[in-house]
Amino acid sequence: MKITLAHKPDKLPETLIVPIAQDEQYDEVLQLLASQNKLQPDALKNDFKGEQGELQIIYNADGQRIFLLGLGRTPGFAEVVKAFRSFSFKWRKKLSTHIGISFLHNNSTATTDITRRIEGAVSGCWLGTYQIARFKTDQKEEHPLHAPDAIITIGIDKAYAPFARKAAAQGLALAETQTRIFDLVNAPSNKKTPEMLGQWADTSGQTYGYKVQVLHKDAIVKLGLHALLAVNSGSEDPPVFIIMEYKPDGIAAEKLKRVGLVGKGVTFDTGGLSIKPSTNMHFMKSDMGGAAAVFGTLEAAAKLQLPVHLIGIVPATDNSVDAKAVKPSDVINSYSGKTIEIIDTDAEGRLILSDGIAYMLRHFQPEILIDLATLTGSAVRTFGYHAAALFSNNDSLANSLLEAGHRVGERAWRLPIWDIYKEDLKSDVADIRNYSGRPIAGAIGAAKFLEFFTENHPRWAHFDIAGVAFNDTEFSGQKSATGYGVRLLIEFLKSVDTVY
Ligand code: BES
Ligand code: ZN
Ligand code: ZN
Repeated sequence: MKITLAHKPDKLPETLIVPIAQDEQYDEVLQLLASQNKLQPDALKNDFKGEQGELQIIYNADGQRIFLLGLGRTPGFAEVVKAFRSFSFKWRKKLSTHIGISFLHNNSTATTDITRRIEGAVSGCWLGTYQIARFKTDQKEEHPLHAPDAIITIGIDKAYAPFARKAAAQGLALAETQTRIFDLVNAPSNKKTPEMLGQWADTSGQTYGYKVQVLHKDAIVKLGLHALLAVNSGSEDPPVFIIMEYKPDGIAAEKLKRVGLVGKGVTFDTGGLSIKPSTNMHFMKSDMGGAAAVFGTLEAAAKLQLPVHLIGIVPATDNSVDAKAVKPSDVINSYSGKTIEIIDTDAEGRLILSDGIAYMLRHFQPEILIDLATLTGSAVRTFGYHAAALFSNNDSLANSLLEAGHRVGERAWRLPIWDIYKEDLKSDVADIRNYSGRPIAGAIGAAKFLEFFTENHPRWAHFDIAGVAFNDTEFSGQKSATGYGVRLLIEFLKSVDTVY
C-alpha cells in the first residue's frame, strides 16, 4: 500500500473519510465541511454528533462519497485507531482501493495532535484489513487496501506535510508488524513449532535488517539451558533459543541505551503432568504472546530505525505430557546455576524465562531488562482482559512504561514485589521452588520467582500479559490476538533515554 498527500479538497479521491471529534473544533469543522459540499450546516450537526465510532455518509454533487467518522470526546491515539480499524473492517466490502482521509482542523491545533491522529488513522485502516481466516480453503475476498495498487491519500494543510508523511509511514509500518504478530499468536501450535518461530525471526531479521541467531537443541544442551530443556523434556518438537539484536545504522553502540527484552515462547501449554482442564485448553496456543511482543518490537524498532540498542531473547518450546516429561517434585538445574524444585509443571513459563533472563544478563549486560509473558491465571483474575500486571524494582522505569502504555491504549497496572512474598518460594531441597503450592497471589509469586534470576539488576520490569495478549474483539468470533506490548514498547523506546 502506498501513502500520498494532498493539500486541496478537490485533489482527494472519491471515497473520503473525515474523522471528527466532539471537541472545540466540532462546530468549525462541520461548518467547513458543509460549505465545501454545499450542505446545510445545521442539518449536518443535527445528524452527526461525532461520538466514538459514529458514522454518517454524505454523497456530494461531485460524486464523492464522504464518511464522517466520529472519534468521540478528546480522543487519544487508541480511540483514533479503534474508530478507523472498526470502520475499515466493517466496510471492507464497500471500500475502494484508493481512499482519502481528510484532516480538517484550525490553526490552533497542535502538530503533535494532528500527527498522532494521522498515525492512528493509517494504523487503524491497515489493522482493519486483518483476516483471521488463514487456514480456510475457500479463499476469502481480499480487503481493497491489500490490492497491489492500493493508496491512502492524506488530506492535510501543506504546513503539516513533512510531519504528516512521517506519521502516516510510521502508522503503516507498525500496523503491518502488528498484523504479522496477530498471525503468529493466532496460529495453532502445529503451525508454529519452536523451529518455525525461529524461522519467523530469521526471516524478519533478514528482511528488516537486524541480527538473529537461532540456537537448536545441541547448542542448548551444550550451553546448559537446563530449565528450557526440562520444560521441553515431554515434547516431540525440540526447543529453540532465539537471540535477536538490533542497532541503528551509523550510530556507535556505546552511545545508545542497551535494552534487553525476554519473551515467553511456549507454543502450547497443556500444563504438562500437572495437566490443565480441557475446557479452555485450546486458548493455550497463545502462550507465546510474550515472545510475539518481543518479535514485533524488534521488527518495528528496526523498521523505524529507533536510536536504541535492542536485544531480544525468546526461549521457545511447548509444554507437553509424556513419560519423559518433568514431574512435580523433580529438581532441575538452570542456566544460572541455581537449582529449582518443580512443584507444578504448569508453572513452566517462569522456568524458561529464568534461562532467558540469565542468558541475557551474562551475555549482554543490558541497562534495562524487560520480560513479557502470558504467565499466570492470577493476572487474568486480577485485571480481567483489560490490563497487564506490571512489576518493577525501579519507579522511573515503571512509570515510563505505564505512561507509554497509557498513551497508546495498552493498559498496565503495577503490583508490588515485597520480599515477604519470597518466603512462599523457599524449597527444602533446592535453591527455590517454582510454585508455593497455594493458589494465592499467583502473579506476584511468579514475579518473585523471576526476580530471583535477575541478579539484583537495578532496572528490571516484568509484564504478566496473560489477560491481554489474547482476547474477545469485534474482529473475530472467538478470542484472538491483540498484539499487546508492541505498541507500548515502541512508544517506551522512543523516550528510553529519560529512564534513570
Ligand atoms: N500459560 C499459563 C498462564 C495463563 C493462564 C495464560 C490463562 C493465559 C491465560 C501458565 O503457564 C500457567 O499455567 N500458570 C499457572 C501457574 C500455577 C500452576 C502456579 C496458573 O496461573 O494457574
Ligand atoms: Zn502453564
Ligand atoms: Zn504457560
